Amino acid sequence: MTREQLVEMSRREVENLQNNRIDLADEIYKIPTALYHDPERWEAEVDRIFRRLPLALAFTSELREPGSYRALEVAGVPVLITRAEDGEARAFVNMCSHRGNFVVEEPEVGKTEVFRCNYHAWTYNLEGKLVAVFDEDNFGELDKSCFGLTELPSAERSGMIWVTLKPDSNVDIDAFLAGYDSVLDDLAFDDAYVVGQQPLDGPNWKVAYDGYRDFYHVPILHRNSFGPDGPFQPDYYSWGPHVRVMSPKGHEKLADTPESEWGYDDMTAGVWTVFPNMSIAGSTGSGYMVSQMFPGKAPGESFTIQNFLRFEPPEEQDPEELKEYMDFMGHVVGNEDYYTGFHVQKALATGAKEFSLFGRNEGGGQLFHKWVDALVDTEDADLPALLEKGVK
Ligand code: FES
Ligand SMILES: [Fe+2]
Repeated sequence: MTREQLVEMSRREVENLQNNRIDLADEIYKIPTALYHDPERWEAEVDRIFRRLPLALAFTSELREPGSYRALEVAGVPVLITRAEDGEARAFVNMCSHRGNFVVEEPEVGKTEVFRCNYHAWTYNLEGKLVAVFDEDNFGELDKSCFGLTELPSAERSGMIWVTLKPDSNVDIDAFLAGYDSVLDDLAFDDAYVVGQQPLDGPNWKVAYDGYRDFYHVPILHRNSFGPDGPFQPDYYSWGPHVRVMSPKGHEKLADTPESEWGYDDMTAGVWTVFPNMSIAGSTGSGYMVSQMFPGKAPGESFTIQNFLRFEPPEEQDPEELKEYMDFMGHVVGNEDYYTGFHVQKALATGAKEFSLFGRNEGGGQLFHKWVDALVDTEDADLPALLEKGVK
């Protein structure tokens, strides 16, 4: 826990509340609209961002027990994440060494002792080792130790399991996180339970992500769901490419309370985005909705899993209340954010406007696009240097 970092941010928000201001970016930032729909550019983004950087793909809490696993497809790569008897979380390409079938169906969360491919029954343990070959005598001589699952770089941080899709990636997770994990630890995901998950189809991944760092739209687009009084003046705090969004509005309570009494519940509120595809909304008091967003099969498609995390176990949830809340959040994001996003991308593709604009009050969105541009332009060998240096 890094209470001091949370206190510093809350202190800044209280100051801004009292001075009726927010911290502004230096200038309006213009994004060429072609970058949202050009197919070659989109391919480069998927390859150089989604396949090269660590992505938070699973929660520690859903793979707490040895034998638990999660299988999902990410940017065209079938991924299998496991927890073995030694307590380690590992990630693999979900691909049999015989002739390539998935070794477990996806998407799926479950528990098992081994993964038995359902094509010809080659069997792997939770550490990815090939442990049995069906009719081995007649298959021919084979050194099983050379035919395990292909392991992917992975690490467990802040109650999440991060996986890099390229087996030979040279990206160091700590360089990528740039200290963000020390504040994400404060969200206490380790102590939370995943009590619900639901899928949503969305527009282009950047159009979708723009919405997650954007408070400007909240009382307008979400006037009928969240109401007309939502915060729309945000402040942004960044660690490398990752950004927390919060607003002075809502800090009235802290302004009237001594700092020593500020609670985690109030200090963790807001939206915590994880580059390039995650948004965490909520607090240690209410629990969280964690959105994992992935590119789809074409520039105009994305796919989101909304994960609902709470601090009481699933059996203590009121199923009706939980369903109502999940339906509500599915509606807000699906019928308001993504519905609008589909309009945005259709209009951007006309080429009628050369640029999209990000105002001085949209610094988090500005930083997102600067990182996307820098990553697309950076060769593998120069990636560690970019992560160390950052973008301005
Ligand atoms: S493809 Fe898996 S056993 Fe043949
Ligand atoms: Fe929204």
